[in-house]
Amino acid sequence: MIEEIKERFRGKDFITLQDFTQQELGQMMDAAIELKRQLAEGIPHPILSGKTLGLIFTKSSTRTRVSFEVGIYQLGGYGLFLSDRDIQIGRGEVIQDTARVLSRMVNGIMIRTSSHRDVVDLARYSTVPVINGLTDYLHPTQVLADLMTIYERVRTLQGLKIAFIGDGNNVAHSLLNGATKMGIHIAVASPAGYQPASEIVLQARENAKTSGSVVSIVSEPAEAAEGAHIVYTDVWASMGQETETIQRQGAFAGYQVNKELLKSARADALVMHCLPAHRGEEITEEVLEGPQSVVFEQAENRLHAHKAIMALLI
Ligand code: CP
Ligand code: NVA
Repeated sequence: MIEEIKERFRGKDFITLQDFTQQELGQMMDAAIELKRQLAEGIPHPILSGKTLGLIFTKSSTRTRVSFEVGIYQLGGYGLFLSDRDIQIGRGEVIQDTARVLSRMVNGIMIRTSSHRDVVDLARYSTVPVINGLTDYLHPTQVLADLMTIYERVRTLQGLKIAFIGDGNNVAHSLLNGATKMGIHIAVASPAGYQPASEIVLQARENAKTSGSVVSIVSEPAEAAEGAHIVYTDVWASMGQETETIQRQGAFAGYQVNKELLKSARADALVMHCLPAHRGEEITEEVLEGPQSVVFEQAENRLHAHKAIMALLI
């Protein structure tokens, strides 16, 4: 199945979900589900035998790092972890030079860094596919795995409603992209000053014209959660915003996914969180550990979704 559709993807970058059609995102999810099945059944799938992936990290990671490293290994390839503490980027070597050097040695590059511009530049100067493993602006690999998780649970995406509660951050941005590509309605509830970027909302509304999604940006968590099939949240202070922690704790008080808020959503609503979570802040322990939570399925599906991305692009 992957071989049949690979031609369409080979050589592409994975920087934003906006670069893919609804059909392509669906094919990526199908590939991920197929790879997950093969892994569970012990069927080897060395699609990237002899290939290498460079993994640049200038920020911390548990899920993204481990899933890409384990994923490339399971595909028969090899991953090189390149922390900015070790490579010359950390000493000021420019991204353009890093791109051209790595392109001559590896078959693909995954990067997690603050500046989205750096990822765009890396892709511009690279001759191998570049995968965005999170910037301050977007987190597209997360949302591909999230969409896969929802699909596995509900067996459909079109017409569902996601409520995102909290900071209009990188995860919220990619969710707005991904949901509206797939025809999922999305309501984001954030306090004033922390709403998603206006151009992301515009893109989402543009996607919605063809996919049939409804997009709403509100300030009341209960309003966003009303009738939702999925209630999603993320930390109040993202990586790099540690100095704003106290200020954000004030701004986001009331933007917590808890039992009371879930009363507004459907009784069978799924609770999602990209992790890492701050229990007692954006989500209660009870809800995170409760029967509606699928957070560890999301985390596991990073592995399968990332394998699909690599297998198709490289
Ligand atoms: N959700 C996510 O990207 O987790 P890590 O920061 O651990 O990679
Ligand atoms: N919004 C969070 C996501 C972590 C996976 C951050 O950027 O820190």
